[in-house]
Amino acid sequence: MKAMKLFQRSILATAAVMAVAAHAGEVEVLHWWTSGGEAKAAAALKATLQAKGHTWKDFAVAGGGGDNAMTVLKSRVVSGNAPAAAQIKGPALQEWAAEGVLANIDDVAKAEKWDAVLPPVVANVMKYKGNYIAAPVNVHRVNWLWASNAAFKKAGAKVPTNWDEFFVAAEALKKAGIIPVAHGGQNWQDFTTFESVALGVGGAEFYKKAFVQLDQATLNGATMTKALETFKKVKTYTDKNAPGRDWNLATAMVIKGEAGMQLMGDWAKGEFAAAGKMPGKDYTCAAAPGTAKSFTFNVDSFAMFKLKDAANIQAQKDLAAAIMSTDFQEVFNLNKGSIPVRLNMNLAKFDDCAKLSSNDFVASGKSGSLVPSIVHQMAVPPAVTGAIQDAVSQFWNDDKMSAKDAQAKIASAAKIR
Ligand code: GAL
Repeated sequence: MKAMKLFQRSILATAAVMAVAAHAGEVEVLHWWTSGGEAKAAAALKATLQAKGHTWKDFAVAGGGGDNAMTVLKSRVVSGNAPAAAQIKGPALQEWAAEGVLANIDDVAKAEKWDAVLPPVVANVMKYKGNYIAAPVNVHRVNWLWASNAAFKKAGAKVPTNWDEFFVAAEALKKAGIIPVAHGGQNWQDFTTFESVALGVGGAEFYKKAFVQLDQATLNGATMTKALETFKKVKTYTDKNAPGRDWNLATAMVIKGEAGMQLMGDWAKGEFAAAGKMPGKDYTCAAAPGTAKSFTFNVDSFAMFKLKDAANIQAQKDLAAAIMSTDFQEVFNLNKGSIPVRLNMNLAKFDDCAKLSSNDFVASGKSGSLVPSIVHQMAVPPAVTGAIQDAVSQFWNDDKMSAKDAQAKIASAAKIR
């Protein structure tokens, strides 16, 4: 009797393994999540896929902001060897879809009711000609200021809410022997700083005219000059080792209290979390100066490429479904520093920074001050973003260039379409 039961059990177990194996596929996933917090979030994605019996083939290309990853992706696709899924965002999704290389994942989206659980502003970006071609993972807020509580205490400074206060705090930190602003001199980080400065100086309407509509009069106007001058003043509070520094090393300076502040999106929070630091206690998350009522959004998403192998196509669909599941959205975003993109999720496990982000996302959506991050590829096509980004960094790096000259360069870069 006992032997019989054991025999039956082993047959059942073998059948289960065979069932999984019959459908098991491989998914190669291109991403640029290599910092401490990012890697933990990517590991959650890998674990979710593996739990479905599939194989994860990691295709990580280091480099914050993803510029390197996009270069590598282009060469892979051109050589006819696209990965199954790639981290592609914003208007670039439409460009890739127009090339005819992306897969239609509408069957997954319909079965999982994506239209009902995604904000329309996000769902529209994930679709090409009405069909889903990508799955969104999160909503990052870019207009944040991260402050070391220890550094601010030592300097007797107050976390700033506008740009005048920012420079008062920066002076106090400097006097206390602390590097006021942790910065990494890479083009995308320069532009991340500039984007928040411009939003704080000019407000959401100015931002939309300048960086979404690329309105020439606005780009050449007085508010833009002021934004550039303020941006350049921020540089005077960075250290001489900033050029080339990776963003997560800049965050580490704030974590250690060597630096007072960093202007960076909330993937920085993933670094604080990975280092065991608590918001409120060890550090403060505040909207970038002058931007408390606005929200620059940056939605990470995975585009699915056309595949031939049936098992791999199934694995790809399972990945897309898993990405949008409530379990994954929770564990991934707790590590990544972002908030779930799926609506109506329970945020009980999330910290105050995430709750603030979630409230501000909804409130800014209602008041018209929810704006797409230009530097993080949400606002305009990649070629335009790249051209403006280069002009912004030229200005940041060249202390002889005037704000007016920089402004003319940016305005002419915005004409590349
Ligand atoms: C952003 C991306 C984030 C984060 C950051 C730094 O573009 O959306 O997820 O990884 O780059 O690498």
